[in-house]
Amino acid sequence: MRQMKLRAVLGALVLGSWAGANIETDLSNVLKLGPRVAGSAANESARVYLEGRFRALGYTTRRETFSYPRFDDLGSDVRVGERTLAGQALQGSAGGSVSAAAVLVPGVGTPEDFGRVDVRGRVAVVRRGQIPFAQKARNALGAGAAGLIVVNNVAGELRGGTLGERVELPVLGVTQEAGTALREGERVTLSVRVRQGEVRGVNVVAFKTGVTRPELLFGGHMDSVAGAPGANDNLSGTLAVLDLARRAANTPLAARSFFVLFDGEEDGLHGSRSFVKDNAALVGNLRAMFNFDMVGVNADPLAVGGDGDLVALARRANAGLESFPAGGGSDHVPFTQAGTPTLFFHRGIDPNYHQPGDRVADPALIGATVDAALRTADAVLSAAPAAAR
Ligand code: BES
Ligand code: ZN
Repeated sequence: MRQMKLRAVLGALVLGSWAGANIETDLSNVLKLGPRVAGSAANESARVYLEGRFRALGYTTRRETFSYPRFDDLGSDVRVGERTLAGQALQGSAGGSVSAAAVLVPGVGTPEDFGRVDVRGRVAVVRRGQIPFAQKARNALGAGAAGLIVVNNVAGELRGGTLGERVELPVLGVTQEAGTALREGERVTLSVRVRQGEVRGVNVVAFKTGVTRPELLFGGHMDSVAGAPGANDNLSGTLAVLDLARRAANTPLAARSFFVLFDGEEDGLHGSRSFVKDNAALVGNLRAMFNFDMVGVNADPLAVGGDGDLVALARRANAGLESFPAGGGSDHVPFTQAGTPTLFFHRGIDPNYHQPGDRVADPALIGATVDAALRTADAVLSAAPAAAR
């Protein structure tokens, strides 16, 4: 008995047929390409690679494109003497370069705060907090400042800060440490380089030729945020979808399913929104949409959320599967909004979420997620169709 087991393991190793081997290979091949920010070259290279994997499994792939506006910081900083302090342009900021004296405004940038100092033609420095970024920027502009620096009020970089509107002033967010290097009256050069551009996003839809009215849709986003390799968020979910396609390939499941890799999720669920909008009839016919996002790191045990009946079905089919209350911003949301029953698989927020450290995902965890999804898919498809109940 033991010998047989050993032989099976050896055989698997020799033939490379360990269930996780494909996932492992794909993980390393795609991670090599770098962060898959929507609209980037790496994002496109990853898509070409993944399309090839679906096709090798006998699926047809089709691309569906969409576009949306995005504000990009092309590299902004402030120079003080010989030092260059890194910073992030707040979304909506004007671009520009200003060399002028720094004025440390006491407070957070209310009109009263600006009333106590003279910032005309200068670079105003205020603390983050209490009032929205846009108000600080408008007050600074009203007081005649030529630029604004917002110093973080918590540790770390001031990432993802947004004015929520266009303000005709260069506005840079900096860390607390950078803030302490700014001195009253000292000349600084504020450089804000930004671009308001149009991103072209591309979803990949994989299916067996002839399948036009799928009952199940398995999806996950393949884009990632800037500066993060996105191993867990969300190459893990992407490869879960690909592995589902692999394991469904020569089974009846393939004839009843679509497999979709969404783009533009990190910029606001653009890919899934566009898919739902462009495929209304198909989406209306689905019995379930399964979304996979962050399933490769065990921050928490595997959990599902979403439609109550689906969650119950999934938990009956999988001992130990956890559930969580509805929520979580990911690609199931536009489907839920369209009335499709959705099931969202994830393993919680890991410490490297949206960080440069999001470099590893565990093939075994991805594979275990696929196991749970396959058991759930079986349960969904063997239940009586909604119309017949
Ligand atoms: N992967 C995350 C969502 C997520 C969080 C999944 C926790 C599982 C556990 C996703 O890529 C993301 O970052 N979403 C954004 C919202 C989106 C609309 C930009 C978020 O949650 O802030
Ligand atoms: Zn994600």
